[in-house]
Amino acid sequence: MSTRKSIWLVIFLHVYLVLASDSDPLQDFCIPRSEFSSIFVSCKNSSLVTIEDFVYSGIKSPGEFSKTGFSSIPVSVSVFPGLNTLGMSFVRADFEPGSINVPHYHPRATETAFVLEGKIYSGFVDSRNRVFAKVIEKGEVMVFPKGLIHFQMNIGDSRATILGSFNSQNPGIVKIASAVFGSEIEEEILIKAFGLNKKELAKLKKFLHTS
Ligand SMILES: *[C@@H]1O[C@H](CO)[C@@H](O)[C@H](O)[C@H]1NC(C)=O
Repeated sequence: MSTRKSIWLVIFLHVYLVLASDSDPLQDFCIPRSEFSSIFVSCKNSSLVTIEDFVYSGIKSPGEFSKTGFSSIPVSVSVFPGLNTLGMSFVRADFEPGSINVPHYHPRATETAFVLEGKIYSGFVDSRNRVFAKVIEKGEVMVFPKGLIHFQMNIGDSRATILGSFNSQNPGIVKIASAVFGSEIEEEILIKAFGLNKKELAKLKKFLHTS
């Protein structure tokens, strides 16, 4: 291949890697050799790989509950290295009655949420601000399209549990309120954008900090 052709190939591959979702694996599996740090990790010698690399036991029971009664255990490639290169991951979430999963989105994945227990009011907002929401019960599944804001609330009398699945090994999560009010965005911008005064903004920030 000429040098010019190889340069174009390199550029094409680079663009492809940057734009693509999780790509298809090039081998059966790739258990990272050391702690997961980037998508370009080297794989363990496959003769050192065991069944334990493909099993995750950390979601048998709920995680630690927040003060508001919500618990989630995200199981992405960083805690379950066996997922590496396979383009998927999951989360267990538990809700005390009345508690919520705050509005958030996953920048890199569509999610399906399967209700293992309980009754959950569950929904998302599309890019035209239309809300699609309803109560789903044990055994039902809802899909949250990639990148759209979604939310959930346990409206039953007992604890509810869901298993969320993602089509990315590293879906990411952006919680709307903390991304906006819990970050370092210049206060004047927030004041103008949300029609708040300084005192109201401080109250919101404090609420987020303590909730
Ligand atoms: C993987 O381990 C086996 C057994 O120890 C060894 O024979 C082989 O050379 C190793 N492969 C690589 C690529 O290091």
